[in-house]
Amino acid sequence: MPQRKHYLFVCTNRRPDDNPKGSCAFSGSEALLDALKQAVFERGLAKTEVRACGSTCLDVCHVAPTIAVEPDGFFYGHVTKDDVPEILDALVRGERVERLVVPHDEFDSAPVAKKPKG
Ligand code: FES
Repeated sequence: MPQRKHYLFVCTNRRPDDNPKGSCAFSGSEALLDALKQAVFERGLAKTEVRACGSTCLDVCHVAPTIAVEPDGFFYGHVTKDDVPEILDALVRGERVERLVVPHDEFDSAPVAKKPKG
């Protein structure tokens, strides 16, 4: 399999329903991942452009359900199945859905800088 241009890591971590931290699975991420995989396949993006996969906790539980978009280096939060077409439309255009992007100030500290190439 070739390396895809983008990897969408959908957190499917599940905590007990009464856990105060909540969890992405409790918030619907398993159905979101299924919808994302299906849409990626139907659009013919699966083999070269986009890989959608499940992940453990991404530590942004407060905006569940969450997706880490790599190597682009940002997170989507409060994502629903209805957002899937917009997310993929933006991805193939090299854009992102700004209303779903988790802002840096919602994290405890600034992101770690990417290492320069070479
Ligand atoms: S449970 Fe999904 S980010 Fe923590």
